[in-house]
Amino acid sequence: MCGIIGYTGPLDSKKILLNGLTQLEYRGYDSAGAALCMENSHICLVRRTGKVANLKETMERITDVSHCGLGHTRWATHGGVTTQNTHPHQAGKVTLVHNGIIENYHQLTEQFHLEAKLHSETDSEVAAWVLDSLYQGDPLEAITRLVALIKGSYSFCIMFEDYPGEIYAIRNVSPLVAAYTRSGSFVASDLTALIPYTRQYFVVPEDHIVRLTSYKVHLYNLQRHEEMPELMEVNWNMDAAMKNGFPHFMLKEIHEQPEALRNTILPRLSKGLPDFTDDQIPDDIFTSCSQIHIVACGTAMHAGMAARSMMEPLLRIPVTVSVASEFRYEEPLIGEDTLVIIISQSGETIDTLAAMRLAKNYGAAALSVVNVKGSTIARESDYTLYTHAGPEIAVASTKAYSVQLAALYMIGCRMALVRGKYSVPQATEFMKKLLNAIPAMESMIAQKDSIKALVTHLINKSDAFFIGRGLDYAFSLEGALKLKEISYIHAEAYAAGELKHGTIALITEEVPVIAIATQEKVFAKTISNIREVKARGAFVILITREDAVLDGGVADIHIRIPKIGDRFTVFPIAVVLQLIAYYASTGKDLDVDQPRNLAKSVTVE
Ligand code: F6R
Repeated sequence: MCGIIGYTGPLDSKKILLNGLTQLEYRGYDSAGAALCMENSHICLVRRTGKVANLKETMERITDVSHCGLGHTRWATHGGVTTQNTHPHQAGKVTLVHNGIIENYHQLTEQFHLEAKLHSETDSEVAAWVLDSLYQGDPLEAITRLVALIKGSYSFCIMFEDYPGEIYAIRNVSPLVAAYTRSGSFVASDLTALIPYTRQYFVVPEDHIVRLTSYKVHLYNLQRHEEMPELMEVNWNMDAAMKNGFPHFMLKEIHEQPEALRNTILPRLSKGLPDFTDDQIPDDIFTSCSQIHIVACGTAMHAGMAARSMMEPLLRIPVTVSVASEFRYEEPLIGEDTLVIIISQSGETIDTLAAMRLAKNYGAAALSVVNVKGSTIARESDYTLYTHAGPEIAVASTKAYSVQLAALYMIGCRMALVRGKYSVPQATEFMKKLLNAIPAMESMIAQKDSIKALVTHLINKSDAFFIGRGLDYAFSLEGALKLKEISYIHAEAYAAGELKHGTIALITEEVPVIAIATQEKVFAKTISNIREVKARGAFVILITREDAVLDGGVADIHIRIPKIGDRFTVFPIAVVLQLIAYYASTGKDLDVDQPRNLAKSVTVE
């Protein structure tokens, strides 16, 4: 989604804005712009559609120095990808950038008679003009009046012509972080833009205004009283946000998974058992609930699907998984007896956040599994289990998925232990098996060249199917999503036994099938389903455990994963599916890390 960077200080703001926008490119965008406050207080606006490189080309022609400015990458929502719609927007004395959606922009356009003034189709420009209309010389007052009028989600960064060298920002839902350093003051939509300059930052609280001057950041509530920001330390270094010799972030992040799993699991092991004391997660939330409801979006939701298939038979209580964007508009059957597990890499996904707020309103306890420290979901949930994947830059989630699974598996194991479903030796054995998944992942990463070779059978195809049963079906969902989002090959995941109830009509020689058969209980059944597609000409890539015994002719390509417990096969399989998608994307020469139309952190509905 949109990226924001604002800077004021002694350095050349042009460079800082361009660096920041480059760091934010991973979020996904389709145009970029900047506003530079020049020494004569004139505001110079530069906007280009396409990549930040286009903006850079234009900005490099500006020779005058500026020490204060705003930068923005836009992910189009209201209005197409045009220069006019690109941020920043200027309205009278106001220049602003915006992330989010102003829901009542039509009404505001009429109320403030803005029709003739607008140069763009954006809701953001409407907000700029409304702010300019409200402005009578005091930026804080104008901003508080603006937020009383607008409905929706937003973070704004604003420059007022009368206050050269100052930046104002306000947020509601959409994320913003700020920092002040010897090199000046910064505000950004995410931490990656600030890391080159500081390790200390603060999350701008909702409905708070920040005012940046070149040597200080002031924080105000909506009553315009100054407050002390709550400073936080970044828990990863710049290296983690660099490619470090890998051609793409996605490949680097696939390689980082074993380490990420260790970082997530090991600090929470006590005498071989999962222990969340340091996370301040009390056991009574695990013992007092009579059902679990998992809510998330996309890949995080797929981690939830796998966790459900693992947890429900183990705990013998209902475990439901919901897509957050649906859940939030339903009337879910949850209450004080429900443990709601919210999964989110970014901790900012708007539907997931809204779903969590709804669940809390119903009286459920909200336990979040989140990667980004200090994110809104982490702060608002009752309990947080941080995953330690480090920053995930590629739009397609890889390491965040496997650490979410590891965290959920640990929750499942702890719950089984405290609810008396597992004895101590059983729980210890479970954790041993979870740890064994790490070398299993490593061994699949080491086989990446053979996975690359098999992808030649996929890249000239327009459709593919992923099939499996039980847990293997949950893994298939993620495999299909990965392939779709970065290779643009249409892929569908199907429960292997369901295919013949209609969808098998689509199977032809042109449709490869990636079949996963690692679950002992349904192995023979899945193999029969594979024979059904094989009989219809499909090219079958089969993934099984290394000890699986197969008759000839079942598969065209057979990938064997190490022999680990049935429940844990997801970890090496995730690597295989991620590599298939990765090489399908590179084989088609696509933009792996920033696939079309996608954004890393989905902060609009
Ligand atoms: C796909 C992907 C998305 C995210 C989804 C939720 O590769 O990354 O499907 O999983 O947008 O994002 P978070 O986990 O940040 O809530």
